[in-house]
Amino acid sequence: MNDQTPVADAPLFNPFSPEFVRNPYPSFQLLRENQPLMKTPLGFWVASRYADVQLILKDKRFGKGFDERMKMRNGDDVFDNPVYANMRTWMLVQDPPDHSRLRGLVAKAFTARRIDALRPQIQKLVDELLDGVEGRNSMDFIHDFAYPLPVNVICDMLGIPPEDRGRFQTGSKISGRLIDPTPVSDDEMRQIQEGFEGQSAYFRELFARRRAEPQDDLTTVLVQAEEAGERLSEAELVGNVILLFGAGHETTVNLLGNGLFALLQNPDEYAKLRANPDLMPGAIEEMLRFDSSVQMTGRTAMEDVEINGVTIPKGEHVINLLGAANRDGAAFDDPESFQADRKDVRPTSFGGGIHFCLGAQLARVEADIAFCSLLERLPGLRLDAADAPDWRPTFTLRGLKSLPISWG
Ligand code: HEM
Repeated sequence: MNDQTPVADAPLFNPFSPEFVRNPYPSFQLLRENQPLMKTPLGFWVASRYADVQLILKDKRFGKGFDERMKMRNGDDVFDNPVYANMRTWMLVQDPPDHSRLRGLVAKAFTARRIDALRPQIQKLVDELLDGVEGRNSMDFIHDFAYPLPVNVICDMLGIPPEDRGRFQTGSKISGRLIDPTPVSDDEMRQIQEGFEGQSAYFRELFARRRAEPQDDLTTVLVQAEEAGERLSEAELVGNVILLFGAGHETTVNLLGNGLFALLQNPDEYAKLRANPDLMPGAIEEMLRFDSSVQMTGRTAMEDVEINGVTIPKGEHVINLLGAANRDGAAFDDPESFQADRKDVRPTSFGGGIHFCLGAQLARVEADIAFCSLLERLPGLRLDAADAPDWRPTFTLRGLKSLPISWG
């Protein structure tokens, strides 16, 4: 540690505290104002200002350094655990050249053109979900809409048949703990491992089916890449399909849930959007900014890096607080307010640099179709709960357990 290293004396960043996880924004403000680049007593750094977060995500002197970080945190034998061994193959935690190779194989399925071509299929799923609540005047938005929509979209893309879709729910809900900054307990790890084993056995079987009978789906594309030679190992194939499957379950759900929650807490903004649906794409960026479904992402300094007079030594880890950067007054006017018609919103919610979210366009299109249809078909939407809805206990993936709403 060098002389100018600011070390927190009060825990401004305390992911162990349920209160902080429920509402991190007051701490984020204190961090930005007082300790924008802070070394925590836990040994890692925390960046909270928009400009610093952007810089760290885009600067090639920072990488993932996943293997070293995991060994430091969990011991040299960490990769004997099949869950961490699987995670190690995800493009999300890889550095170039492996990252570029893995991302290149999947990226073709996520181009703006390919995603736009999914619009009719996504609209059909949205219509079916709304048909399902027709004749009612209330629902749990998370359970009845926000969860099934992205899950069915990613399952369609991967070619997972409808009858197989219900079987992984528990496993994937707890697996979000793997990317939290707090250690996973033995009990959580047991559950994650169980879920992981089920998924991995299922996908291996699906790969065998696709080898025998190729289909027009992403799983077939990846299986064929593996068969074609050295470009993708069997372990990487399993790992990255599990990553995509998990990303489809855990992120867009919360864009829809957190977004609708923000909108309905601000009836004037809801009215603006009802009156002018053309505002929708910008309003979705504002939803992403205001209460991001992904709150942080880590990087490791691959060499000593100086930022604003503070040196982050080689090998040390930085947590980039995407949610804090999104409320930085230096980047956004009146950042604590939700404004459906805010102009030129550029949230950090999808990250930046080489790991910029591969599913960003997919998430945007799903949200666009979902919110346009919801606002049109369910007029007079309002929050239903007398008490504030409860947040899930994960920090990195921020979302509501349920969101009771009614209409009409
Ligand atoms: C609102 C929804 C979403 C949010 C907020 C989100 C957020 C993010 C963020 C912040 C990253 C970068 C992590 C880093 O820099 O370390 C990321 C990467 C990634 N996301 Fe998303 N994501 C969303 C939806 C999706 C969806 C629907 C998919 C695919 C089905 C997806 C697939 C991925 C993948 C594969 C990566 C890794 C990319 C790489 O490492 O090159 N995401 N996402």
